[in-house]
Amino acid sequence: MTLQVDDFTTLRQAMVTALRDEGLITTEAVAAAMMAVPRHDFAPGELLEKVYQTNTTLVPKIDAQGRQTSVVSASHIQAIQLEQADVRPGMNVLEIGSGGYNAALIAEMVGPTGSATTVDIDADVIDRARAGLQRAGYEQVNVILADAEHGVSQYAPFDRIIVTVGAWDIPPAWLDQLTPDGRIVVPLRFAGITRLIAFARTPDDHVLTADNYRLGKFVPMQGDGAADEQLIAVTPDVGLRVDQSSDLTFDVPALRKALHTAPVESWSGTPFDMPDELELYLLTSGPELPMLHAAQEAVDQGVVNRTVRLGTPALVRGDTFAYRIKRENPDTVSGYETGVIAHGPQADQVASELLDMIRTWAGRYFRRNAARITYHPNTADASGLTGWHTTKRHGVLAVNWS
Ligand SMILES: C[S@@+](CC[C@H](N)C(=O)[O-])C[C@H]1O[C@@H](n2cnc3c(N)ncnc32)[C@H](O)[C@@H]1O
Repeated sequence: MTLQVDDFTTLRQAMVTALRDEGLITTEAVAAAMMAVPRHDFAPGELLEKVYQTNTTLVPKIDAQGRQTSVVSASHIQAIQLEQADVRPGMNVLEIGSGGYNAALIAEMVGPTGSATTVDIDADVIDRARAGLQRAGYEQVNVILADAEHGVSQYAPFDRIIVTVGAWDIPPAWLDQLTPDGRIVVPLRFAGITRLIAFARTPDDHVLTADNYRLGKFVPMQGDGAADEQLIAVTPDVGLRVDQSSDLTFDVPALRKALHTAPVESWSGTPFDMPDELELYLLTSGPELPMLHAAQEAVDQGVVNRTVRLGTPALVRGDTFAYRIKRENPDTVSGYETGVIAHGPQADQVASELLDMIRTWAGRYFRRNAARITYHPNTADASGLTGWHTTKRHGVLAVNWS
């Protein structure tokens, strides 16, 4: 069967409607761009229905170790980032991490008086992006093969920089190449998690202040800005992940023993909702918490709760650790209740410490965007920072709850 122009319009319309219904498209500008650009031109060989679903990534590139190094992002992520970026007609916009489709959306939004540049470190991705942009009629986009750690100086300054690859830091080149009142949207990795952060910069201030952040997952940065995390194996199937800058240490034999003792469960009485917000609070409001990860086998064998499969903050105190879980509870507003599971000789105390943190979050910060996230480049004075912060290569990231 050959699809007609009308079929593509219907598919695009359905995608845009779904993204609006999910609250991810909130402006006409993003809706119009997503209606205009033929997403299938950037994913040859992919099933059409998959191309226009809102949560599927396309044309993955896998490295020798089986890890994804590139994908055309899911359209819900692209919608979030474009809304966060607030791209306007006439702007000069840089996209870091390419694929073609998102660059075409940007080109639509900046219009004939603006300019879109996309950069990727991978020659295959650049070739694919160029071909897609040509097929779809967006030859005006500047497509650059380079390590984006150093920006794209020949087309700077940019009103907006949209980073579409997981970054651990914000290198000086990005800020040097951003207009004084520009915005930068970046999936930033810290404390073992990634948040898609929209930063604004005020002209007389070197500090970036987030006006919103969301959950998001991206392939990791390669090249000069690549960063690793430390994974401390407790058993072959269960591990603790900490940031590369962390100096946390663990009593692994004691934790291994704890893991195989009967757990203690306790319940907070507070609703389980917005787990990503709770996760951010737990990781950035008190003691440094590692992320507990487990392979499916450990879940299947009942060694850890299934919540651990995707990673969850763990409060570790010597030979004991605790993490949050949930259960159905129709008496809470969400229909679920947050609880804690603890293993080890001090299970009651450690569970109670974690429950206190959960109740504080539920009592004071039970909403979206409750944290104040700022980034202080090394050129700014970060000496007066109070609250949680982490020192990166080129600056300090701070997360404040007040
Ligand atoms: C999620 S994909 C980009 C998706 C794309 N923006 C889209 O619209 O579909 C991330 C890309 O970042 C690229 N990348 C990784 N490290 C990079 C670096 N240092 N500089 C430029 N690109 C990089 C990868 O090659 C990969 O193609």
